[in-house]
Amino acid sequence: MSGKRFFDLLLLILVLLIGTKGNLCEARSTGFAYVTTNGTRFVLNGNSVYLNGFNAYWLMYMASFPDNRDNITATFQLAAKSEMNVLRTWAFSDGVERALQTSPGVYNEEMFEGLDFVISESRKYGLPLILSLVNNFADYGGRKQYVQWARESGQTLENDDDFYTNPVVKQYYKNHVKAILTRVNSIIGLPYKDDPMIFAWELINEPRCETDPSGRFVQEWVREMAAFVKSIDSNHLLEIGLEGFYGDSIPPRREFNPGNVLVGTDFISNNQLPGVDFATIHLYPDQWLTSSNDSVQAAFVDKWIEAHIEDSQSVLQKPLVLAEFGKSSKLPGYTQDQRDKYFAKLYEDIYNSSSNRGPLVGGIFWQVLAQGMDSFRDGYEVLLEESPSTTSVIAAQSSRLMALK
Ligand SMILES: *[C@@H]1O[C@H](CO)[C@@H](O)[C@H](O)[C@H]1NC(C)=O
Ligand SMILES: *[C@@H]1O[C@H](CO)[C@@H](O)[C@H](O)[C@H]1NC(C)=O
Ligand SMILES: *[C@@H]1O[C@H](CO)[C@@H](O)[C@H](O)[C@H]1NC(C)=O
Ligand SMILES: *[C@@H]1O[C@H](CO)[C@@H](O)[C@H](O)[C@H]1NC(C)=O
Repeated sequence: MSGKRFFDLLLLILVLLIGTKGNLCEARSTGFAYVTTNGTRFVLNGNSVYLNGFNAYWLMYMASFPDNRDNITATFQLAAKSEMNVLRTWAFSDGVERALQTSPGVYNEEMFEGLDFVISESRKYGLPLILSLVNNFADYGGRKQYVQWARESGQTLENDDDFYTNPVVKQYYKNHVKAILTRVNSIIGLPYKDDPMIFAWELINEPRCETDPSGRFVQEWVREMAAFVKSIDSNHLLEIGLEGFYGDSIPPRREFNPGNVLVGTDFISNNQLPGVDFATIHLYPDQWLTSSNDSVQAAFVDKWIEAHIEDSQSVLQKPLVLAEFGKSSKLPGYTQDQRDKYFAKLYEDIYNSSSNRGPLVGGIFWQVLAQGMDSFRDGYEVLLEESPSTTSVIAAQSSRLMALK
């Protein structure tokens, strides 16, 4: 990116003004300014930005143990070597063992310092972050924990889908959003909401609401929460965290959903809401179409990408990011070569769209682990130093995207 020197200088001045310590002057970043959107493009300092990066949900947790912080540094060094320029991670863990939020509005400082460290390292290695604010699923607390907290406070709730409608739960969620956005980083001194290293906020990882297939509950929740985030922080981009399932707003689109399911979200109407800056899809044909053979799954992948590109271009007019995809080594017949080819195929789709001024302008695979983290293996893990062939597919994508204007 051009303008690096200028922004380093700007940052230096900023550092002097706010009197923080630390080694920001060493920062190597895609630029210390907020990324914005213009139609279906991400823009920074007048240039288009294309994303190539990784998921690593475990960063805050790992960094909360000072002895394990080398895991984060080692991961970021390798990612920077492959010229990746974004990462997506959790800015939540609710009510579980070693939680960030131990009970509503109560935070574990050690965990927050872990997240501070992740952000300060991301600055050092030029890896802007997408931070997700809650989980749909019960891992690390999620919707279920919020609903449980409200029950403990005397609310009567039927099921976890009340997360989207119950006023007490919604207030707990807003309080968490505020706690994260206004957190002042203990290492670099900046409030998160004023830190350009944060690429975007994500409202919720993979929202679903099966008791309301119409998608109305999620729609109203996103409307309210997107506005709430923007009321605190209008500088950063925002996305919802959607997997991409269609709802009823364009009924024929439903046929693109795996097995025609409705999960209570609507890729079109949810992403049209004010405050939602870009759209996301996830892609797990192996989990979504378990009983289908490879050729059916491959055809699904093509249609899933094509349909969402079309809609992002012609209906939403917003950028689209493939924010989760991967290939599990736990599936029968898995080989690393298959994984490499699958990554290369999706990277080709992203590159083709990016170079033709289409809306699909980024890919973030699931997931990177550091060495020695065997208990975190989920089948999708890529250990960059152990998988030179996969790493070179990833690096090739970074380098050709960076060459695009
Ligand atoms: C947005 O992009 C269009 C065409 O791609 C360009 O003409 C316009 O100046 C851009 N707007 C801003 C605010 O950069
Ligand atoms: C990474 O984390 C694991 C714990 O999961 C720990 O055993 C190991 O020492 C850490 N490695 C580094 C390099 O920090
Ligand atoms: C895969 O499944 C589809 C639909 O059931 C079938 O038409 C096709 O012949 C199968 N392909 C292979 C290679 O088995
Ligand atoms: C590449 O992108 C163009 C324009 O967006 C599209 O028409 C074409 O089908 C794409 N090709 C492939 C192989 O995806």
